[in-house]
Amino acid sequence: MKEQNQPDYANWVPRKLLAVLGIAGGFLAFLFLLSFLLTDSGGVIILRILLAAAAVFVLLSWGYMAHARFLLSYEGGGVQGKILDNLLQYLDWDGNGKLLDIGCGSGALTIKAARKYPQAQVVGMDYWGAMWDYAQSQCEANARLEGVAGRTAFRKGDAAQLDFPDGHFDAAVSNFVFHEVQTQPDKLALIRESLRVLKPGAPFAFQDVFYSKRTYPDLMVMLTTLSKEVADLNFIDTRHNDFVPKFLKTPLIVGQMGLICGKK
Ligand SMILES: C[S@@+](CC[C@H](N)C(=O)[O-])C[C@H]1O[C@@H](n2cnc3c(N)ncnc32)[C@H](O)[C@@H]1O
Repeated sequence: MKEQNQPDYANWVPRKLLAVLGIAGGFLAFLFLLSFLLTDSGGVIILRILLAAAAVFVLLSWGYMAHARFLLSYEGGGVQGKILDNLLQYLDWDGNGKLLDIGCGSGALTIKAARKYPQAQVVGMDYWGAMWDYAQSQCEANARLEGVAGRTAFRKGDAAQLDFPDGHFDAAVSNFVFHEVQTQPDKLALIRESLRVLKPGAPFAFQDVFYSKRTYPDLMVMLTTLSKEVADLNFIDTRHNDFVPKFLKTPLIVGQMGLICGKK
């Protein structure tokens, strides 16, 4: 395996998604061209129109996602990093003790937290599913390259059943993870599980697609319920941050972002 010598935080638009869209678009365009080998008839013309429309739609989606990937990337627009920096601003923590990053992906937020809080021990957990360009070894290499390997640890696990005792952590963060967790469709239960591993009074900041009606059909009810279970709860609308270009503010990328923060 090639040794990593630069941090690699990958991208929220995975390479695999672009590959699938590119191949599907190319294949539809190929079928469209092949259709000219058929003798013209009403049915063939309708087929041609459908193939052309499908190819254009898929190739435009590919173009949108490819540009979104560039804007998000650390080498391009840098938006991913700015969104994570912004999230940490909502964590009201003195940096003493242990912080958990739930669904840490490539370790980007875990490592940012470790750099922001030089006294802290920071744990990143993830199940590192096949659809993402993320891995535990990549997190460890990133932490080493960023000089925080001694204060970070990465653990494989399921956010729906965290492998830590009650009250184990002094702070917790999570970014764009809860909607991805297939093992727990009840998002209130998932947030409660995240809070379970925190000490009473410990701060948290969780960002997700809270404005997605599909994932959070009863956001206000959920927030009201949660507010009775923790010492302090705030909801922040993070959809309109001015460091995020309009191009990315669609439901496909970051147009449904919200953040809950407070103290357990
Ligand atoms: C959009 S990525 C966000 C990664 C990272 N938090 C970031 O902001 O860069 C979603 C992450 O959720 C993780 N994930 C999905 N289901 C999970 C589960 N059941 N337990 C832990 N992590 C999970 C994925 O592996 C992926 O790393």
